[in-house]
Amino acid sequence: MFDLLKERLNMTVLVTGGCGYIGAHVVYALHEAGEDVVVVDDLSYGKPDRIGDARLYGMDIAAPGAGERLAEIMKAEDVDAVIHFAARKQVGESVEKPLWYYQQNINGMLNVLEGMKEAGVKKLVFSSSAATYGVPPVDVVPEDVEPMVPINPYGQTKLFGEWMARACEEPYGIRFCGLRYFNVAGCGPVQLEDPAILNLIPMLFDRLKQGKAPAIFGDDYPTPDGTCVRDYIHVSDLADAHLAALKYLDRDERKYDVFNVGTGEGTSVRQIVDEVKRVTGLPFTETVMARRAGDPPHLIGSPKRINEEMGWHARYDVDDIVESAWDAWQANPAHHIDVETWKQQDA
Ligand SMILES: NC(=O)c1ccc[n+]([C@@H]2O[C@H](COP(=O)([O-])OP(=O)(O)OC[C@H]3O[C@@H](n4cnc5c(N)ncnc54)[C@H](O)[C@@H]3O)[C@@H](O)[C@H]2O)c1
Repeated sequence: MFDLLKERLNMTVLVTGGCGYIGAHVVYALHEAGEDVVVVDDLSYGKPDRIGDARLYGMDIAAPGAGERLAEIMKAEDVDAVIHFAARKQVGESVEKPLWYYQQNINGMLNVLEGMKEAGVKKLVFSSSAATYGVPPVDVVPEDVEPMVPINPYGQTKLFGEWMARACEEPYGIRFCGLRYFNVAGCGPVQLEDPAILNLIPMLFDRLKQGKAPAIFGDDYPTPDGTCVRDYIHVSDLADAHLAALKYLDRDERKYDVFNVGTGEGTSVRQIVDEVKRVTGLPFTETVMARRAGDPPHLIGSPKRINEEMGWHARYDVDDIVESAWDAWQANPAHHIDVETWKQQDA
């Protein structure tokens, strides 16, 4: 447990999207810290068995009238703070279905803020994203970099979500903290695994499961080994950052309302591939394919602000991330790879 949080917050926290990958890790961390948790989730991606004894309300937060229903839940549960995760999160899908992304992510945020206003709840932690930066003009991005131009509808909804929450501070007294996550990966308890095969590490495992060569998209970028460089953050470190943010919102003096949650360290796709070889023990040969559109060469978040203001620091490194992701993958019977059989087939 994160040192700063040894002292209990004594809050009832409403977590939207608490049955999802990151939300469930935060629900777990809140329970570990002794906090009371209420979850709202439409179970479109989330699983109800991931939230322990948190009370679950099944609803679509982006639907018409959801603000009123959220206010009723917040009042009935005597909620002190909201952590808002529930959103659609696939960049490519957002390019194909922009109106649905605006409807889901913007209306969802609107209804959460409406519910908080009506119920008088004053603290909000919001899942923002490094996607708000688009293709930043520097390798290691600080929160106040300019210009901030998200390059897809998903990133736009996250930046606009920050603006919406900020606008509610003065008139409704809602204190807001936006956490801009970099590349979230790894797993805490294995039952909280991310079942979606959307990010690099599960994509590599998935190709191996299918007996196919893992792919690297582009090895001619202006980076040390030619592959894209990203800032990987362990999901359990990210969960701790949410508890630190709740604590920060308790302070009267707050200098900032948005924070990168990154490590400031870059790891290339090729380094991750090599780490996957080491951790799995599978002697695969990767293929190199063409670059994908819209992948910036570097995306690394400066953690200086969150380090200094909240005292939060990442505890886990890339080895821990890949090892924990592999443990969770292997614990899932639908994913499990029998390493010895795999090696014989490959031979
Ligand atoms: N995973 C990442 O790498 C990453 C990076 C940056 C930001 N984020 C943001 O973090 C948040 C959580 O991401 P995740 O990876 O845990 O995603 P996830 O899909 O695993 O979890 C989202 C949860 O929200 C629920 N949900 C979605 N839309 C809903 C709606 N309209 N009403 C009620 N419930 C709804 C889903 O059922 C799911 O349980 C999202 O807001 C995402 O944009 C994620």
